[in-house]
Amino acid sequence: MHQIWPTGDARPIDDGELERLYTYPDRPRWLVANFVASTDGAVEVGGKARPLSTPPDRKVLQLGSDLADVLLIGATTAMVEDFRGVHPDQHTLARRHRHGLADIPPTAVVTTGRSLPADAPVITQARVPTLVLTCATAPDATRRAWTDSGAEVVIAGEETVDLAAAVAALTERGLRRIDCEGGPHLFGALTAAGLVDELRLTISPLLTAGPAGRIATGPPTTPADLTLATALAEDDTLLLRYLTRPR
Ligand SMILES: NC(=O)c1ccc[n+]([C@@H]2O[C@H](COP(=O)([O-])OP(=O)(O)OC[C@H]3O[C@@H](n4cnc5c(N)ncnc54)[C@H](OP(=O)(O)O)[C@@H]3O)[C@@H](O)[C@H]2O)c1
Repeated sequence: MHQIWPTGDARPIDDGELERLYTYPDRPRWLVANFVASTDGAVEVGGKARPLSTPPDRKVLQLGSDLADVLLIGATTAMVEDFRGVHPDQHTLARRHRHGLADIPPTAVVTTGRSLPADAPVITQARVPTLVLTCATAPDATRRAWTDSGAEVVIAGEETVDLAAAVAALTERGLRRIDCEGGPHLFGALTAAGLVDELRLTISPLLTAGPAGRIATGPPTTPADLTLATALAEDDTLLLRYLTRPR
């Protein structure tokens, strides 16, 4: 792997340096959004992200999860991508211990109640209780079913999830390194709410054409300026880190 920005010249970097670059800064909250897209901007192929991913993408996605306090995800992505929570191997555990982190970060799923059944693997297969970030209009029976399946239900907002309140509920629990793994509706809403601190975008060496959407969607909002923090390249994959506010 090579660092091509901000060094000027392509400079080889090892795993230790990669981990350093992808370590969350020491802030009261740091919310990172992770996406992989094709060169023509597609966010899925055949309805899934995995065909876009490459070994270097998986490496940095793993780092984002390994160094996080909590994973944040939209209900559709949790279902479509068959999320099961984090099941750390020895390498992940050693890395987390080195950084003083709990063994397993919980997953927090955003839903109004429509797209997250109580038997979702992200709830039933998780090693630590999944947080369901929902709103007051989620039916009582649905909330009870989530709890009965082992989830912890957090109400943030009335008719839709108030993402600022939901993120505040995470940080109040000490979950301040937030690793958002999509999808585009959640990312669009987080962007509109000004809650994203960093975008980790992988450009995958594929041209897909087709009907796929892009990494953020939702109602029109004011474009956010970004600062390029690092650019890495391995084989034909580009790994970009952008900050929403210069550090
Ligand atoms: N390339 C990548 O890196 C990547 C990453 C992730 C996902 N994806 C792809 O993206 C696709 C899914 O896209 P998506 O945009 O539909 O997924 P999404 O953002 O994960 O899920 C949308 C759902 O999340 C809940 N949600 C999001 N924002 C909310 C808010 N502010 N308030 C309340 N609920 C909210 C809603 O669930 P309820 O309906 O339950 O209310 C909504 O229907 C899949 O094809 C997946 O493979 C790609």
